[in-house]
Amino acid sequence: MILTLSLGLLVLVQGAWSTIPPPQVSQTLPLLLEPSCNDSQVLSVAGLALEKINEDRKEGYILSLNRVADVKEHHQEGSGSMYYLTLDVLETTCHVLSKKHWKDCKIRQLHYSVYGQCKAIFYVNLPRRILHLPAYNCTVRPVSRIHIFRVCAVCSALIPKNISDTWIFQTVSEFLEKINEEIGVGKKFHLFKVTRFRIQWLLGPTYLMEFLVTESPCNKSLPDQCLQPPDDAQPVGICKATLRANLIKKYVPGMCEFFESQPTSAPESDPPEHQVPQQLASTAAPTLEGPKGSVQFLPDPPVGKIEDGQEKKPIVTFPAHVSLTTEPLGEVLHLPSHFLLERKELPIVLPFPEGSRSNECPGPAAYAYSLILPP
Ligand SMILES: *[C@@H]1O[C@H](CO)[C@@H](O)[C@H](O)[C@H]1NC(C)=O
Ligand SMILES: *[C@@H]1O[C@H](CO)[C@@H](O)[C@H](O)[C@H]1NC(C)=O
Ligand SMILES: *[C@@H]1O[C@H](CO)[C@@H](O)[C@H](O)[C@H]1NC(C)=O
Ligand SMILES: *[C@@H]1O[C@H](CO)[C@@H](O)[C@H](O)[C@H]1NC(C)=O
Repeated sequence: MILTLSLGLLVLVQGAWSTIPPPQVSQTLPLLLEPSCNDSQVLSVAGLALEKINEDRKEGYILSLNRVADVKEHHQEGSGSMYYLTLDVLETTCHVLSKKHWKDCKIRQLHYSVYGQCKAIFYVNLPRRILHLPAYNCTVRPVSRIHIFRVCAVCSALIPKNISDTWIFQTVSEFLEKINEEIGVGKKFHLFKVTRFRIQWLLGPTYLMEFLVTESPCNKSLPDQCLQPPDDAQPVGICKATLRANLIKKYVPGMCEFFESQPTSAPESDPPEHQVPQQLASTAAPTLEGPKGSVQFLPDPPVGKIEDGQEKKPIVTFPAHVSLTTEPLGEVLHLPSHFLLERKELPIVLPFPEGSRSNECPGPAAYAYSLILPP
């Protein structure tokens, strides 16, 4: 008896030593609510989750919400809810480093849209002023080229990023030289990375490219003497240039947009105008954690094979997957320490609910073209 008691004590002590006491996970399968995908609260939660996704990213373009494809809500004991969101998204023309709000960015024109789906786990606790995105994953694709070609033969096609054509690099250099002459006072801009490259036929090839630039200082007394950008140089802006060439002349109109604050600067506070309170102490606590997810860019699906005289449609899928636990009854979610929640208030996270959609889902799309809506 004494032995079992002390064993029990030992187990208790060990339990206390592990990071968290045995979670108060309920013994029955938790009840998942299925709110409408057009519910105003759901739309606002989805918009905030997408804002956090964009904030978390270091590369690519800001994604905007096209529609809520599915939502499950797990109301937590005490206060707050864990949301399991499936969001249909559209790429905008703003780079994530611009740190703009997705609502302030334009989506790309239909013929070179990039669209896809994000899955996100999002914890919202308004009484405690917590909005926390522990995990997300997205998959995006360019709009099917074969479909675009049918409706618009000259419309541009995305070209894979591996551009080794020296002519194009030379033209980018010429463009940057012009930019440097015009605005590069005391500094010089250099190509950092090509982020998008398209080709379009208009009486010959027209290349449309977007690229990040970095900068290096120049010696004021000797303007020709500019340093090379350091190895860890960060992009300071994004330029868009159109390269149109015939045998005689080359035209390179374009423009650059410079990011307001550099990505290396102190973490910025959230703009105050949102109706829903922002996370507690978000300005005080540096975000030292790694990324919470990623956006995978998949290529245009290959053109279907012709079988029995019928073109087989390529199967377009958006295999985004997030999972923080495989435990059917869920696990306690460890929040960053700056969220001052007591242990018993910590939320439970479940495996991402797959399977049937909620009844009133998907919600209405902002842009309801089948070409840019995931199935
Ligand atoms: C990218 O281009 C380089 C130079 O032409 C080539 O060696 C390399 O194999 C290409 N990579 C891919 C993934 O196509
Ligand atoms: C600029 O160049 C001059 C002449 O070479 C040199 O004396 C000076 O130290 C340089 N200044 C900087 C900031 O590099
Ligand atoms: C996101 O997707 C990647 C690869 O597809 C996977 O390794 C990762 O675990 C996923 N993230 C989460 C939180 O599930
Ligand atoms: C979505 O909600 C808005 C306003 O609440 C309403 O006007 C609209 O008809 C709804 N759309 C659908 C498809 O239910």
